[in-house]
Amino acid sequence: MKAVIHEIQRFANIVPLSVFHATMKDTELMGYSIPKGTMVIQNMRTVLMEEGQWKFPHEFNPENFLNDKGEFVKPEAFMPFSTGPRVCLGEGLARMELFLTMVTLLRKFKFIWPEDAGEPDFTPIFGITLTPKPYRMKIQLRSNQ
Ligand code: HEM
Repeated sequence: MKAVIHEIQRFANIVPLSVFHATMKDTELMGYSIPKGTMVIQNMRTVLMEEGQWKFPHEFNPENFLNDKGEFVKPEAFMPFSTGPRVCLGEGLARMELFLTMVTLLRKFKFIWPEDAGEPDFTPIFGITLTPKPYRMKIQLRSNQ
């Protein structure tokens, strides 16, 4: 379950440009000089889908978070909440909510892609956040409930 949730966050890249920042002083980074006051915009995709960091960088596959023994591992490049001193303050709460909501829904219901719906279109709607296009889904109460 943890691997699935992490993979959803990786693949969906919900906050694609994080929050904009600015340098507070003249800064040297990997040979580049960035003057004081320069706006810095992160591109989260560059780490969340970086080749060499993931077993399957461009496809949805929870094995990106599993080792050879099937145990959960979190690669360093997983940073949908950003990183550093301004990392998302709500990360702990968001992770708890994602786990509780997903487990509750999946224990109670089956989510079935309708046969006549064709292939899912993963192209996101781009804004401050990336959101999915509207889609239809069949939701069935599990028989053991
Ligand atoms: C899946 C859900 C969430 C994602 C992917 C997410 C992602 C992010 C990202 C990428 C940033 C920018 C960090 C940076 O400036 O480098 C951020 C900042 C922030 N987030 Fe979230 N967030 C989520 C949920 C939440 C929730 C539930 C809360 C509050 C209850 C929250 C509160 C904040 C705050 C206060 C900041 C600003 C932190 C600062 O500038 O010091 N976030 N978030």
